[in-house]
Amino acid sequence: MTQFALARVPAIVFGAGRIASLGEDVTEVAGSGARVLVVADSGVSALGMTAQVAAAIQAGGHTAVVFDDIQSNPKESQVRTAIGLAQSKGATAVVCLGGGSAVDAGKLIAATARCDDDVTAFRLAARPLPASGLAKICIPTTAGTGSETTAVSVLSDDSGVKYWYWGSALKADRVVLDPELTVALPAHLTAATGVDALVHAIEACTNRNAFAANDLYGLEAIRLVGRHLATAVAEPGDLAARGGMLLAAAFAGIAIDNAGTALAHNIAHALGSLVPIHHGRAVAIAMAATLEWNVEGNAQGFAKVAEALGLGRDPKRLPAWFDRFVRSVGIKVSLADEAKGVDAAVLARRMASPENAAMRAANVRPVTDEDLEPLAGMVLSAG
Ligand SMILES: [Fe+2]
Repeated sequence: MTQFALARVPAIVFGAGRIASLGEDVTEVAGSGARVLVVADSGVSALGMTAQVAAAIQAGGHTAVVFDDIQSNPKESQVRTAIGLAQSKGATAVVCLGGGSAVDAGKLIAATARCDDDVTAFRLAARPLPASGLAKICIPTTAGTGSETTAVSVLSDDSGVKYWYWGSALKADRVVLDPELTVALPAHLTAATGVDALVHAIEACTNRNAFAANDLYGLEAIRLVGRHLATAVAEPGDLAARGGMLLAAAFAGIAIDNAGTALAHNIAHALGSLVPIHHGRAVAIAMAATLEWNVEGNAQGFAKVAEALGLGRDPKRLPAWFDRFVRSVGIKVSLADEAKGVDAAVLARRMASPENAAMRAANVRPVTDEDLEPLAGMVLSAG
């Protein structure tokens, strides 16, 4: 019998307008009269959501201090500044509000705020994160990265080099999924983040670490994306579609928390280090270009994905479906305008680099050294 470990899933509360009860959520995770640091990105604040969240916290009898300087590709230096604020205000809880960047940063702020060591001491899990972090609630305003349900944060140093932080101390104590917070997300970001969630789920269900108990989350995430993403893109105010996508992203986050990703994420991370491209679009392009190759070496794994998408148990139908799907939600698949100067050999070298090795090794069809350049070529010549 196969051994597996299904990690802790944070408590998840869901509902349109659910944010209004946030004060009660804070009481449950941090007690009454909590001092809450709200970590948000500036875009979310501009839409009035940070003020809405702070008001809901205060309505529960707590105090709220806002730090809303988080940008995409969040920096360790911002985490350091926010920790200083948390310490000076005696914060006892952190509410992480925004896309993956704000949630990643907020989780790390909460985990290390009571610690005297600089945050960088915990890069790449060099040291275990302290067990005595602040209570944290994650409230995603995009439906994509799944950071709200994972034990990972990714932060950059000031020169842009990315570092992974990992540990159960980065898990949320509670996740609040409120579809009303995602209706303002523009169509191109709805599509790119939604496909990121889909690729998380597909890769978690089909890689070497996949197991049946985790497939419950991954396959349901795949069904939800298949059912809801096109509507969320075309009709941004459709709360059923927005809610379906929030659940999909959270479930896909659980799936990668247990099983990780594979080839498409290996390529997307390599590509993202060479070309300024949204991560969701990068995984969409990478999977569209290489899925036929990958299905050839793992028909059984991909059969269940095909089934979840209503394609029978025929994995051969999957590559054409995926390509059509990503184009139908408006993702531009060709890199011709953006990747000038990046040839297959350069991309292949990045795919082989140590920080991308685990994703490559997890792929069921072995990705040999000889495979790298042809695979990179497929991605760069997609059109
Ligand atoms: Fe991803």
